[in-house]
Amino acid sequence: MAAGHSVVVLDNLSYGHRESIPKDVPFVEADMADSVKVRAALRDYKIELVMHFAALINVGESVHQPERYHENNVVRTFALLDAMIAEGVKKFVFSSTCATFGVPDKMPMSENLPQKPINPYGQNKLDVELKLRQLAREGKISFAAFRYFNAAGASADGSIGEDHQPETHLIPLAIAAALGRRPALKVFGTDYPTPDGTCLRDYVHVDDLSSAHIAVFDKLKETGLAFFYNLGIGVPYSVEDILKSVERVTGKPVPREYVERREGDPPALYADATKVRKELGWKPKYDTLDAIVSTAVRWHTLHPQGFSKR
Ligand SMILES: NC(=O)c1ccc[n+]([C@@H]2O[C@H](COP(=O)([O-])OP(=O)(O)OC[C@H]3O[C@@H](n4cnc5c(N)ncnc54)[C@H](O)[C@@H]3O)[C@@H](O)[C@H]2O)c1
Repeated sequence: MAAGHSVVVLDNLSYGHRESIPKDVPFVEADMADSVKVRAALRDYKIELVMHFAALINVGESVHQPERYHENNVVRTFALLDAMIAEGVKKFVFSSTCATFGVPDKMPMSENLPQKPINPYGQNKLDVELKLRQLAREGKISFAAFRYFNAAGASADGSIGEDHQPETHLIPLAIAAALGRRPALKVFGTDYPTPDGTCLRDYVHVDDLSSAHIAVFDKLKETGLAFFYNLGIGVPYSVEDILKSVERVTGKPVPREYVERREGDPPALYADATKVRKELGWKPKYDTLDAIVSTAVRWHTLHPQGFSKR
């Protein structure tokens, strides 16, 4: 919207919040696999490009419910693509993930590393990437797939922020612990081969994710084009770095408990962002941890209960 495009939001509200959508943005409550509603929305609003963020996102849960994850994240995405193609909508932007790479043996992570996901969630996203490649080869769509690293932060005005049920992301959990809203935070593993022994990740602000999506519009000129970008700021921060940042920003200690490593956590995951910077002229506005964390703290302070509970 701020970039001069008209936006329509479609979500089944299985995990999303109606309140997170600005009042002047049209909203369609539907499952992405509901072809009648999706096709009507594509037609009625004369949609030119679909940005696909809908997914089940809990990696641990995907291990225990692989069929449910495959159905929602793969089968229903394919239904969405069918609906688009049937309505002649040919531009697509996909939220993929660094989890498609599994445990890479090289850091930072560039686009050409082998993709070997180690959990169903990562596999789901890779399955969709492969389908997109095929559809582009067949000349049916053009697309960009962004493999996000850790999405973080909140809108600068404090109106939109993270409210996942259950919350599994480190920054909101650390803020909640600092603000006394949850018990001590568990830090999984202190013996990784990293400078302070805790895992390293790449945190990218949601506004910066968003600017990359807008920047890619102009590249999707004709069908058959396919773009892949690893989307992180390229700076690794440890779990301890995050906790210290939350302590600096809130002025409160983060109560924590150090426990054993968690199965399936790679020691380090951070992006080589050369391609996205060069090809899209992308430059993250939030390039320090404290800047990212400050926006999240503002959101959590202003919204102690998150979005209004359903
Ligand atoms: N948050 C991260 O760090 C991260 C990292 C990598 C990739 N991603 C991807 O970014 C996207 C957004 O993630 P998020 O953190 O905002 O998650 P989220 O759970 O807040 O948002 C996902 C939305 O999809 C909706 N949804 C799920 N299944 C649907 C369906 N079948 N039909 C219609 N709507 C459906 C949910 O209601 C929810 O509003 C996801 O695709 C996720 O895989 C996120």
